[in-house]
Amino acid sequence: MKSNEDDLKNTRRDYNRQILLEDHAAADPWKQFAAWLEDARNENIVDYNAFNLATIDDHGFPQVRVVLLRDTGSNSLTFFTNYNSDKGKQLNATNKVCANFYWSQMERQVRIVGIVEKVKPADSDAYFASRPRESQLAAWASVQSAVIRNREELEANLAKYDKEFEGKEVPRPENWGGYRIMPRLFEFWQGRPYRLHDRIVYRLDADFAWFMERLSP
Ligand SMILES: Cc1cc2nc3c(=O)[nH]c(=O)nc-3n(C[C@H](O)[C@H](O)[C@H](O)COP(=O)(O)O)c2cc1C
Repeated sequence: MKSNEDDLKNTRRDYNRQILLEDHAAADPWKQFAAWLEDARNENIVDYNAFNLATIDDHGFPQVRVVLLRDTGSNSLTFFTNYNSDKGKQLNATNKVCANFYWSQMERQVRIVGIVEKVKPADSDAYFASRPRESQLAAWASVQSAVIRNREELEANLAKYDKEFEGKEVPRPENWGGYRIMPRLFEFWQGRPYRLHDRIVYRLDADFAWFMERLSP
C-alpha cells in the first residue's frame, strides 16, 4: 500500500476549468466576489460560504480558523461568533484580518484583507433569532475557546440553559454576535494549466476607488 509520504510528493492535478482575464473581471471586486460566490453555490459545494479567518494573537502569531459567511451587505462580509472567544479577544486587540475562501472544485481561491468592526446589536439579535433553538442554547452553554474538563461539562451546561429558558424565547447572549470585515484588498485566484495561474488583485487607492492589477502566479 502507498504511504502518505509517497502520495504527498506525487499528488498533483492540472487546473483547466476556467480562466480569469482582466477583460472578464468586474471593475468592482464586490461584483466579482458575488459572481464567484454564486458559482460556488450553484456548484453545490459543501460549506461554500466557509472561509478561513486569520487574526493576530498577542504574541504576534497568526491564528486561523474556519467561520461561515452570513451576509455580504453594506460592502462588508459578516460572520458570527463569541466575542469572548480567542478570535474575539484577538479582534479586540487588533482589528486587522485576512480571509480566505477555497473552492477546490472550482479551482478558485479568494483572499481578502481588511479591518473588522462589530455589527449593530440589533443585527446580531435578528440573526440570533433566526437560528435553531439548539444553536441558540449552545451559544449560552459554550464558553468558546475556554478549557473545559470533559464533554459532560458541556452537555450539563446545555441542559442547564435548556431548563432556564424552557417555554421562553432564548435571548442573544451579550457576548455573542457578528463582525463585519471591510476589505481593502481582494485577490481572485483561478487555477490554470502548468501552474500559470491567473491572479487578479484589487486594492483601494487613496480616493477609495478600486484598481486592478495582475500578479505573477
Ligand atoms: C465548517 C466550519 C464552520 C464554522 N463556523 C463557525 C462560525 O461561523 N463561527 C464560529 O465562531 N466558529 C465557527 N467554526 C468553529 C471555528 O473554526 C473555531 O473552532 C471556533 O470559532 C473557535 O475559534 P477560536 O478559539 O480561535 O476563537 C466553524 C468550524 C468549521 C469547521
